[in-house]
Amino acid sequence: MLADRPTCVLLTIHLDGRETPAALAKVRRDSAGGPRGSSRPRLRKEAATAEELTLLEWAGLEAIQNACGDAQGLGVTRPLLLMREDAALVMSFVDARTLRSVVLDLSRLHPGRGRLDEAVAGCALAGRWLNTFQQSDFRGPGGSDRPVRQGTRDEVVDGLGAYGDYLGSPAWGRLASRGRGLVAAVLPRELPLAVGHGDFAPRNMLLRAGRLTVIDPLPRWQVPVYDDLCRFLVGIRLIGEQVHTHGLAFGSDTLDALEEAAVAAYLGPDADRAPLRAYQLLILMDKWTAMLDNPRHDPLGRLSRRSAALADHRVRREAERLLDLADTDR
Ligand SMILES: Nc1ncnc2c1ncn2[C@@H]1O[C@H](COP(=O)(O)OP(=O)(O)OP(=O)(O)O)[C@@H](O)[C@H]1O
Ligand SMILES: [Mg+2]
Repeated sequence: MLADRPTCVLLTIHLDGRETPAALAKVRRDSAGGPRGSSRPRLRKEAATAEELTLLEWAGLEAIQNACGDAQGLGVTRPLLLMREDAALVMSFVDARTLRSVVLDLSRLHPGRGRLDEAVAGCALAGRWLNTFQQSDFRGPGGSDRPVRQGTRDEVVDGLGAYGDYLGSPAWGRLASRGRGLVAAVLPRELPLAVGHGDFAPRNMLLRAGRLTVIDPLPRWQVPVYDDLCRFLVGIRLIGEQVHTHGLAFGSDTLDALEEAAVAAYLGPDADRAPLRAYQLLILMDKWTAMLDNPRHDPLGRLSRRSAALADHRVRREAERLLDLADTDR
């Protein structure tokens, strides 16, 4: 057994008594409880059953295999067996570390453990992976077009307003309003779309010997092409260890280097970055409100919420950084 989580069980499969697994079974469970009663604005709402999620993941793994199977520096986990009624699938095992743990080793709280060049190369591969996946023009499971999320400039403007109102402080209100002005100026009325990976985060990337394998796809929606990359970038800025230590874990030099590697690999050297920054602000506010709204009701959950709330000024500074970068890029 690799993990037993509320949403799934992961079981390793060993052949011939070997220590390294050959395959991994992922058995999903339907999560308990309906709507959570929070008033937080959300970019993605609909719940899905364990069976639906398994079918999506299977389609995603097949699409990744088609898109990235032969690409240099990119690996794949092969989908091996689908057991639809059991909401289970089996895939090949990738013997590698998550990019998240490679990044965490760079923390100043674990001196001497990590290598910046390895993490930077991993982030560059993440950017390259996304480019390769989007160029394959995957339309969604069975070739069907997926529903669209945040497909227009107006939806992004409305989202920023909703998050600004929800966060409530005058300081966030000013940032949201500056963001709305930026979006109106730099995003087209209809945003370029792609089927999203769905959970493009460093914890869903496996890195070893200069090869990156992206796992855990949930291609449920068509989203603006920047969506996955922005989730990745914000995921790195809002790593729990950084938020809860108020920036003690990572210096901005480190985070900037990781971000630059991913953005440059995805966009290329000469692209206009202002649209990406504008959309990144929306994802920052989405993820930040999710952290503040941590649903756990035990003491650890309360502690986590209180600790995150104390870091609000740092996240506002990150929002300001994005707005300033976009102004410089324009
Ligand atoms: N094919 C694989 N090969 C090796 N390790 C894997 C593979 N699939 C998953 N893992 C390991 O198991 C962990 C959890 O897997 P996965 O991301 O699929 O589950 P999850 O419950 O959807 O995760 P989360 O919601 O935390 O992203 C991964 O972070 C990785 O360490
Ligand atoms: Mg995962």
